[in-house]
Amino acid sequence: MAERIKVLLSENEVDKRIQAIGDQISKDYAGKEVHLVCVLKGGSFFMCELAKRITVPVSFDFMSVASYGSETKSSGVVRIVKDLDEPLKDKHVIIVEDIVDSGRTLSYLMQMLQERGPKSLAICTLLDKPDRRVMPIEVDYTGFEIPDEFVVGYGLDYAQRYRNLPYIGVVEFD
Ligand code: IMP
Ligand code: MG
Repeated sequence: MAERIKVLLSENEVDKRIQAIGDQISKDYAGKEVHLVCVLKGGSFFMCELAKRITVPVSFDFMSVASYGSETKSSGVVRIVKDLDEPLKDKHVIIVEDIVDSGRTLSYLMQMLQERGPKSLAICTLLDKPDRRVMPIEVDYTGFEIPDEFVVGYGLDYAQRYRNLPYIGVVEFD
C-alpha cells in the first residue's frame, strides 16, 4: 500500500512551540535543576531540541519501554526494554514523550517512576490526542493537541520510518 505524508505542523511551528515550552520550563524551575527522562525512541528528537532551550541546569537519561499486546492496541502493561542509568531520588524529573494517545504507557510509567522517590515528577509531551484517552493522566506541558490521526515525524514513526522528518505529518494511504 502506497502512503503519502501531509504536513500537519511545519518545522517552523514545531520549533516555535518547543522554544515556548523551554521558556516555560526555565521559568517554572528557576533556581532548580531539571532531570529529563526521554522515552525512546519517539521522544528523542523532541528532548534534544527542548534541552537546548532550557536555561536552568539540565541533566538527562533515557529509557525504552514496550507495551504488551498488539502493535495497535496497547494493553497498559509496560515492559522496560532499557532502564534508566541513574537514580531519580530527590531530582526534579520531567518525562519527555513524543505523544500521549490512550495514556496507558504514561500512566504506568508515572506510577513506576514515582516509586523511585523523585522530588517532583512532571510530564512533557510534544503531541496529545485527547480524544483517544483511556487512562486519565495529568500532562504538565503539551506542545500541540491534535485530532485522532496517525502522525509521523520529529521522532514518531510508521513501521520505524519517517522519524527523521523535521515536521509533523499525517500518513495518508492511497
Ligand atoms: P499510549 O500508551 O496509547 O498513550 O501510547 C503512546 C505511544 O503510542 C506513543 O509513545 C507512540 O509511541 C505511539 N503512538 C500513538 N499515536 C501515535 C501516532 O499517531 N504516531 C506514531 N506513534 C503513535
Ligand atoms: Mg512513545
